[in-house]
Amino acid sequence: MNIAELRDQFEQRLAATTDQKQVEELRNDYLGRKRGLITGLLKELPKLSADQRASAGKEINLWKLHVEEALNVRAEELAKPVEAEDFDWTLPGFERQIGAIHPLTLVRQKIENIFREMGYAIAEGPEIDTDFNNFAALNFPPDHPAGDTQDTLFVDRLDEKGLPLLLRTHTSPVQIRTMMKHKPPIRILCPGRVYRKDEIDATHSPVFHQIEALAVGDDITFSDLKGTLLHFLQRLFSEDVELSFRPTFFPFVEPGADVSVSCVFCKKKGCSICKYSGFIEILGSGMVHPNVLENVGYDSEKYTGFAFGMGLDRLAILSYGIPDIRLLFQNDIRFLSQFRVVP
Ligand code: PHE
Repeated sequence: MNIAELRDQFEQRLAATTDQKQVEELRNDYLGRKRGLITGLLKELPKLSADQRASAGKEINLWKLHVEEALNVRAEELAKPVEAEDFDWTLPGFERQIGAIHPLTLVRQKIENIFREMGYAIAEGPEIDTDFNNFAALNFPPDHPAGDTQDTLFVDRLDEKGLPLLLRTHTSPVQIRTMMKHKPPIRILCPGRVYRKDEIDATHSPVFHQIEALAVGDDITFSDLKGTLLHFLQRLFSEDVELSFRPTFFPFVEPGADVSVSCVFCKKKGCSICKYSGFIEILGSGMVHPNVLENVGYDSEKYTGFAFGMGLDRLAILSYGIPDIRLLFQNDIRFLSQFRVVP
């Protein structure tokens, strides 16, 4: 039988196929590795003389390509459309997993929105900063035992003045960076990651998050600080929240105050979360120290300002009743999925 006849035979058999199974049988008959007809013809080639081999080889290979293509086209033609009755509508579907927003992000966004409405801009700074921005410019005296109070983590590298670089211990260096770059009036909110040499336990982590506010301008007073904080905390917690100010010391403010909110859990009745005091301390604040204003080149006779800073992790823990700070960093899907927003 010559090739032309074989070709015709193939075409007839192909045309006679009525389902994909038959197409696959045909594929096996012609192209099967062991007993395929074309495979067999190709195996015979070495027996031919050199010039016969070249032309026959070409012819058979071209035919092989055609057969492969024709089989694929026929298989496609015979592909059975999915009929409605073939489909089991009662099978369970695939659940699409919807992501959740991390509780720290939720609290940060909530706070950012409140301050954006008040005209604050968001300012960010690097996590590795200079001793100047983190301490000196903030009026920490050179011999301040910052290593004790703030437990600084130093980086094994010096800045251009030969002073040590460090992992910022608070977001306050962003105050300095912003004031060095811009003239008053200033209203910024600085969220970010900060570092201290703390052991990890249920309430401490060497990496945590702060959010800081700074306002500088003409005639900014302590009442502006109080009014801003009251508005902010009423929006964040509830309208009936009460604040309590207690004098405290930070080198970069004068006067300084620790601020507590009336316990959002027991409404001042006393519970284990507020340690039966009715109040929970949540932030440090104060009027920007004149030395800080002078350090960034502002006229401290002309300008005043306030600043406050708080731990985001603590706020998230309080807002959502999270029992252990470590849950915020472990990325356990069982924990995180509880913050999924149900559409
Ligand atoms: N930087 C202070 C801290 O980390 C918080 C603070 C910010 C206090 C701004 C006063 C004003 O504890």
